[in-house]
Amino acid sequence: MEQINFNAFIVREIGKNSFSGAVCETSTQELPDGDVLIRVHYSSLNYKDALSATGNRGVTKNYPHTPGIDASGVVVESKSDKVKPGDEVLVTGYDLGMNTSGGFGQYIRVPAGWVVKLPPTMSLKESMILGTAGFTAGMSVFQIIRDISTEDGEILVTGATGGVGSIAVSLLSALGYAVVGVSGKSDAHYFLKSLGAKEIISREDAVDKSGRPVLKGRWAGVVDTVGGDILATAIKSTLSWAVVTCCGLVASADLPVNVFPFILRGVKLIGIDSQNCPMDHRLAIWKLFADGWKSSYPDGFYKEISLKELDGNISLILEGKQKGRVLVDLIS
Ligand SMILES: NC(=O)c1ccc[n+]([C@@H]2O[C@H](COP(=O)([O-])OP(=O)(O)OC[C@H]3O[C@@H](n4cnc5c(N)ncnc54)[C@H](OP(=O)(O)O)[C@@H]3O)[C@@H](O)[C@H]2O)c1
Repeated sequence: MEQINFNAFIVREIGKNSFSGAVCETSTQELPDGDVLIRVHYSSLNYKDALSATGNRGVTKNYPHTPGIDASGVVVESKSDKVKPGDEVLVTGYDLGMNTSGGFGQYIRVPAGWVVKLPPTMSLKESMILGTAGFTAGMSVFQIIRDISTEDGEILVTGATGGVGSIAVSLLSALGYAVVGVSGKSDAHYFLKSLGAKEIISREDAVDKSGRPVLKGRWAGVVDTVGGDILATAIKSTLSWAVVTCCGLVASADLPVNVFPFILRGVKLIGIDSQNCPMDHRLAIWKLFADGWKSSYPDGFYKEISLKELDGNISLILEGKQKGRVLVDLIS
């Protein structure tokens, strides 16, 4: 196929440990080999994109690089019988946007094994309003609702106004659970209440300072997105047989707990890995979003930006100041 020129947000190393991103023209010849060429319509901004865009070598080893760990769009070219030109598809995780040119470009080329056909009841835009953060919230909620009923007690969601947290709050509330959010934003109450949270506690109040190995039990389930002392305190404050999911590290990668909550209360701690989620489970989670979990989000739940507006929004997510989701439009 002829080469196609297109725009992408490309991050370059401009000095030692100094990185800068800008919208530039590139071409499909610059994309890696792969089975499926996709014209990207939407991507979204996730915390990992911000790390990739600022030179975090744990995420992206080589620059220049186009971040964007998720994308939805239309197949242009396919060497696989799994999808054909014209199909609407989405990709989240695997190596997209890490060391493979990602969704902040108008075209991506990826292995067929990464591609999910868009569920018929979901639009390309809806799929990226959810994006990787929504998919991760879906994986976390799936683990909670498998074992915990709405009668078992309250569910705590940490990093509640963030991408993963806000979708978890909304989803669990819509499913009938009593959700308590932890947030560091003093102005987050209206936003979180509009998503369905029944109570909001501050980050300070979510951290135990007594040092006791087990605290008074309150949570039947926890969706944690931040790690560190907040996750440790949540684990110590669970009811018996609670389920706790852990996906993120914006507060800390450490987890200062001992074994007592696990051996005295039977607490289950479940790690969430959306990047390498097996395809059958991946399809099941997207189907749940497309059918049973369809929910409407309040005004201001997501904002739509262009490639040119990525830079400022990357700074905001790194400072923990984003609320809800950031949708990136690559068609207008
Ligand atoms: N394992 C996986 O598969 C997977 C997938 C997606 C994301 N993640 C990880 O999950 C985490 C959240 O991702 P996201 O996309 O939701 O990010 P995000 O939109 O930036 O949300 C993170 C939220 O955490 C809170 N927060 C920020 N800094 C904090 C701090 N120092 N201490 C405590 N809370 C803090 C903030 O909410 P409040 O102001 O409301 O407290 C912030 O909005 C990230 O670590 C990301 O890498 C993992």
